Amino acid sequence: MVDDPRRIKISDFPKDGNLKSQIEFVLRYAILAPSTHNSQPWLFKIESPECYIYYDPKLVLLEADPKTRDLYISIGCALENLILAATYFNIFDFVGYGPFQNKYHLATVRFKDYTGAGGEKNDLILGTITKRINARGLFSAETVPLNVINSVSSLAQEYSTHGINVHWVTDKKEVLELASLTAEGLKSAYHRSSFRKEMSRWMHNSLTNSKDGLPGYALRMPLLVSFVLPILIKWFDLGWLLSKLNYKSLSSAPLVTIITATNNDTSTWLKVGRLAERIMLEFNSLNWRTSIFVAAIEMGDFHKEVQKIIDTDQLPQFLFVVGKVDMLHKSTPRYELHKKLIS
Ligand SMILES: Cc1cc2nc3c(=O)[nH]c(=O)nc-3n(C[C@H](O)[C@H](O)[C@H](O)COP(=O)(O)O)c2cc1C
Repeated sequence: MVDDPRRIKISDFPKDGNLKSQIEFVLRYAILAPSTHNSQPWLFKIESPECYIYYDPKLVLLEADPKTRDLYISIGCALENLILAATYFNIFDFVGYGPFQNKYHLATVRFKDYTGAGGEKNDLILGTITKRINARGLFSAETVPLNVINSVSSLAQEYSTHGINVHWVTDKKEVLELASLTAEGLKSAYHRSSFRKEMSRWMHNSLTNSKDGLPGYALRMPLLVSFVLPILIKWFDLGWLLSKLNYKSLSSAPLVTIITATNNDTSTWLKVGRLAERIMLEFNSLNWRTSIFVAAIEMGDFHKEVQKIIDTDQLPQFLFVVGKVDMLHKSTPRYELHKKLIS
């Protein structure tokens, strides 16, 4: 497909082009980041040598993400992809987290001229950005080797100086407890009709042409169900069913990764997003799949139970699982970059 946003050839980087065209090229990696409900809440303004990153206020999820933490984490994931790609081509200079005058302005990335010298020659990670998907469904019993966890955890070291830490949960009993909390969190969300109405707007059938949201195939729904479920959840509380499916999926995973932080402010959320994306990409590059579940963190007071399980005073900010799955579903859609560029 000509317009497949994931078909990015490293050799197409415009070496002889101007910095603006090079920034546009690396932004194609940014927009492949995961985002809450696949809402893709980012906007980019290029003022060479800088790129300003904004959020789109129209894409705030008032019911699922009233604190906007997941919006910031999503943009942190996009920022990480952008920095990884720019570092690869050796045009990354600096990232600033503000504060900025415009409240929608979240970060500024400064680039430097391309000199032909290679950056961190990590083309495996760039390839992984184009292939990573949020892998829903059941995980096999294969455990994640300790040496893999140890090597991935080294990526988190620099973040601990910012009060951001990663917890690795492999104990089966604890994984089951986290699965229960996730299921309870989802149930409580689906009790609210306002949450269901919002959710149903983001769920699409599997043949959708929509460039955002959650197509049925990504949620592993049979084709016919994907046409009916978005309508049903709007009117009926199917939280009992969806929480069961989430429980089964999470409890089958051999590893749960939880990111916690001392602070609970917007620049911390951006950094949590960057770290989460970096770790998820690393696992994916090693052929381990990742899947995000934030219900136990976002809903009600369940995060306090999560804190007890992992024995921390820091606030849980993000949770994803790691494991092997038999089959990957098709990747989710994205808006073309030009739809996310503002002048
Ligand atoms: C901050 C954040 C929270 C998310 N929360 C959940 C979640 O609770 N459950 C879920 O199934 N997916 C969750 N996702 C995954 C998104 O739905 C997924 O990234 C999006 O649909 C795009 O698909 P992709 O990651 O396969 O590219 C979350 C993603 C982000 C960045």
